[in-house]
Amino acid sequence: MPKNLITENDLNAEEVLVILREAKHFKKLRRRELSKFSSRLRGRKMALLFYEPSTRTRVSFELAGRGLGIDSVFVDASSSSSAKGEGLVDEAITFSSLGFDLAVIRHPDIGAAKTFASYFEGSVINAGDGISSHPTQAIVDAFTLWERGLLRSDLVVGIVGDILNSRVARSNARLLNKFGIIPTFIAPPQFLPKMMQKNEQLVEVPGELGYQVHIVYSFESVLEKLDVVMLLRIQKERYETLPLVISEFSKSYQLNAKRLSMLRPSALIMHPGPPNRGVEIADEVFADERCVIGEQVRNGIFVRMSVLSFVLD
Ligand code: CP
Repeated sequence: MPKNLITENDLNAEEVLVILREAKHFKKLRRRELSKFSSRLRGRKMALLFYEPSTRTRVSFELAGRGLGIDSVFVDASSSSSAKGEGLVDEAITFSSLGFDLAVIRHPDIGAAKTFASYFEGSVINAGDGISSHPTQAIVDAFTLWERGLLRSDLVVGIVGDILNSRVARSNARLLNKFGIIPTFIAPPQFLPKMMQKNEQLVEVPGELGYQVHIVYSFESVLEKLDVVMLLRIQKERYETLPLVISEFSKSYQLNAKRLSMLRPSALIMHPGPPNRGVEIADEVFADERCVIGEQVRNGIFVRMSVLSFVLD
């Protein structure tokens, strides 16, 4: 297991499976059975450094750490010395000096976790760096599929919405590719990276953080073929001006009663959260038995326990 988890590329498929199996083990354990893990990791120190808002990731890391007996300290960037101008490098040095074994970091800049890891003596887990990567969310999503026996190369996965700004979409594409799955990005061209705006096609994104995806512009043209629909919110905070009126987006891409009726009875509906009701997702989706959004949130605790125990133990 690598010392850091900065992107999915720090793991091969077998290592991902080891994490998933251990997460399943944690999910089955009763509270008192956790004591052997707690004693192994008791006294380890984890800093939760959040420079962007978070509910699920932050709280599940905190609960995962608590379940394992790890001391965690939450650092709110708005009230830490970063607000006085301390940069990432000096923060990393400071947290090393404070004796932390692990830092979980969320930051608006691409590469922030990698930079932090270069100056921090302990392990670093990326909890989201700009629009680049959110590896533990991708592992949570893979776990939710794997538990149902769905992490196999013929799975048809559609990721729908604001792909342009989604680290979850990119991380999921990289992780699914490791299992032979090529997901489909479904979005209007305005919500896709430039290289995906011209044609509906199979795209190979080059580079160290590259991946393969199919591109489709019309949700309804593929809806009936999907085994899994992953919905994404529009990340308004990353735009100066939205490239598309929200009501126009919702008209063609919102999962609503009409589109639910077109979806396979066996399909799964996922969302990394937070959902924006009335935009990409209608209220009725939450009551649909194919919706596993709550389960993804719950799985987040067990997957993060597994990731923490591997990185620290
Ligand atoms: N999925 C996710 O990262 O959610 P939060 O922003 O609530 O942590």
